[in-house]
Amino acid sequence: MTSDEIRRTYISFFEERGHKRVPSASLIPSGHDPSALFTIAGMHPLKPYFLGTERPPQLRLTSCQKTFRTADIDIIGTTTGHLTFFEMLGNFSLGDYFKQGAAQYAWELSTEGFGFNPDDIWITVFGGDEELGLGPDEEAIEAWLQIGVPRERIVECPRSENWWELPPPGPCGPCSELYLDRGLRFGDEDDLPGGDNERFLEYWNLVFMQFNQDPVNTLAPLPAKNIDTGLGLNRLAAILQGKDTVFETDQFAPLISLGEDLSGRSYGLDFATDRALRVLADHSRAMTFLIADGVVPSNEDRGYVLRRVMRRAILQGRQTLGLDPGFLGQFSDRVTELMAGEYPELAEQRDAIHMWLASEEENFGRTLDQGLKRLEELIARAKEQGEEGISAEDAFLLHDTYGFPFDLTRELVAEQDLGVSDEGFELLMEGQRTRARSAARGAGVGAAAREHAAALAGEAGFQTEFLGYQTTDVETTIGAVDSEREHASGRVLVKLVESPFYATGGGQVADSGYVECASGDCVARVDDVVRLGDDQVLAVIPERGEIEVGERVHAI
Ligand code: SER
Repeated sequence: MTSDEIRRTYISFFEERGHKRVPSASLIPSGHDPSALFTIAGMHPLKPYFLGTERPPQLRLTSCQKTFRTADIDIIGTTTGHLTFFEMLGNFSLGDYFKQGAAQYAWELSTEGFGFNPDDIWITVFGGDEELGLGPDEEAIEAWLQIGVPRERIVECPRSENWWELPPPGPCGPCSELYLDRGLRFGDEDDLPGGDNERFLEYWNLVFMQFNQDPVNTLAPLPAKNIDTGLGLNRLAAILQGKDTVFETDQFAPLISLGEDLSGRSYGLDFATDRALRVLADHSRAMTFLIADGVVPSNEDRGYVLRRVMRRAILQGRQTLGLDPGFLGQFSDRVTELMAGEYPELAEQRDAIHMWLASEEENFGRTLDQGLKRLEELIARAKEQGEEGISAEDAFLLHDTYGFPFDLTRELVAEQDLGVSDEGFELLMEGQRTRARSAARGAGVGAAAREHAAALAGEAGFQTEFLGYQTTDVETTIGAVDSEREHASGRVLVKLVESPFYATGGGQVADSGYVECASGDCVARVDDVVRLGDDQVLAVIPERGEIEVGERVHAI
């Protein structure tokens, strides 16, 4: 079964049983959910239905949801099944069927739809938790017994395994998971599902969403008893396509072979190459989908996560595989070829995706060249001197001066069996933040200058019209001047009737330029532009002549 067939089989199974298909929501959660940066589960966009704050279009829903999880970024490529971006299939009941119904559907689709041998399916259930004040989930055990699963294949697991929640406050509940026993080739006689082994592969999570957790560990019943199930499409593909890892399935193999073609290396021979090929496959899917949904690389929040994923991919591509620059775009095109049938936004956003990938690859490439050279020297020196690692100060310098990310320093140092202190680095970062805060107070337009500017604007009694989006150059009039209040700093405050200058704000630097008298007898350099809500005042440094109220000027 191809991945497309799995998706179709799942969705139509539930459509035939009265479920309405809801389209995949964006990877960026909608405005009403500040609890997570990305859409992390199929139920996530449906949260208001679970909480009862919005009415669902129907009580039975099904979806294939684009999902992005950050928790495992560091281990991608080192395991058989972890991914950042993946598709999650799910069926949802909002106060309609509950444990028995959900278990029955999952059993029927597993055995008849996907053809699993019933003897290979094992079940885990919630074993109870003191902090939550809940005992073992007897109702779930009973539901599986009714279906005919022998008691010895129903395993009770702790909260860490069998409890699912969105970040509190949010809906939550005990879960019951379906595992496939892949046989002794993958493990031991006494392995159990829910344990840390490769023999039992979790493929479907049934969550009995019946509580709202608010605050942590305090449960209140939801308006209805709901079902939220999640089945990772790629893991199921690995099982059904007889592959040991998700990276060999039909959504990934073409990406792995692209990496092989571009690098001239083969998959399956050594760990470092495999890991790099897998990282590129996973991360290129992630970045393509994230940009298509409107995330752009930056140093904060979602943009930072995207940048991190891009940089990890660039690093693996360049360093480990020795790929020629421009490879991200090639990977992304292959992702689009594979997935745009189901997700047309990938083709629609192709230009934007290419633009962001190319610029990040180029910029980070430069950073890497410089930083890596320096890091190699540091590693060599540490080894020579028998040190256990490189110093936090050096790591900080790499970050601060070369823009070389600390995550990468840590990873690369670890590859050489060396260390670097996280706490030491964090301490230096904190010091830098404190310095930056006090510098912001002291330099440029400090608090006093702001006050001066506000006073001038108040006296002037008019608002400067900002024209900076239309032009960088205007003929205008000096509406007000204050040469007293900023005297000590050598600056004069000037308020233009119209201004082409963008003001400082939100971490952005103001435009700079000149104000020249139309008569040609005065020139002042624009040192800063103070933002006062929608209004602004210039702080200028006179270079020639004097600027006076009512003068016609050229503001450039
Ligand atoms: N919300 C659950 C999960 O993500 C089931 O869909 O595993």
